[in-house]
Amino acid sequence: MSIQSTIKQTTITQILEKKNKEKITMITAYDALFAGIFDSEVDMILVGDSLHMSFFGAKDTLGISLDAMIYHTKAVCNGAKESLVVCDMPFGSVATPEIALQGAIRVYKETNAQAVKIEGGAEMYETIKKLVENGIAVVGHIGLKPQLVRSEGGYKVKGKNEKEAQGLLCDAIKLQEAGAFCLVLEGVRSEVGQVIAQNLKIPVIGIGSGVNVDGQVLVWSDMLGFFEAFKPKFVRQYLEGARLVREAVQQYVRDVKSGDFPKMNESY
Ligand code: KIV
Repeated sequence: MSIQSTIKQTTITQILEKKNKEKITMITAYDALFAGIFDSEVDMILVGDSLHMSFFGAKDTLGISLDAMIYHTKAVCNGAKESLVVCDMPFGSVATPEIALQGAIRVYKETNAQAVKIEGGAEMYETIKKLVENGIAVVGHIGLKPQLVRSEGGYKVKGKNEKEAQGLLCDAIKLQEAGAFCLVLEGVRSEVGQVIAQNLKIPVIGIGSGVNVDGQVLVWSDMLGFFEAFKPKFVRQYLEGARLVREAVQQYVRDVKSGDFPKMNESY
């Protein structure tokens, strides 16, 4: 006899159905604890390779391995029972369609993620097609691609002129044709975000790409004010996480030093 959970996990079909009806919400998470808190609130949870910066403390996302992404995706899946979980394919893991397929198969076999995310435009057509043909759901990622930070010499807003905007639209259409069920569009001018969202059948989830897209994604540690190294313009900070935690820890230290903690009811 199988034990059926009463909690229904969000499906790809449900995400697709939201296009032109309601905005899609996505947030990153890297562990079971926060995934469990975000779970019943958002539609999708992204185990982004941004974890290499905000969780591990590296200066960019490039150094993270597929093993590490799988470890964190397992943790997130332990916490997320309702949201659709997406695992980011890290730098180097999609170098050829075959390498990408082997990596994505590992993600599916070793975690409960429902999709993988791949950074790249039209050049990823064959790779995404291969994954989709093998039964793996793919989220594309175009615009500002953080995995190119070293080769491009920084994080640069995209779609700043007509040629770039046209290139992005072509990329987006190509990824849809390859079978991606959704796109993350990062760091592009609002007008470009709007044109891309209007021209695609699949949802376009923006990060720093304006309001006229089909949904939004933010990195959890940015929006909750834990990542203090820098704050991009597009981030709305909903909590002063770092300050609140620092103050709580300062109070704990004061309580221990003064002998106020633990009290009798906190002792055996
Ligand atoms: O790695 C990540 O968190 C991402 C988001 C910025 C979309 O790719």
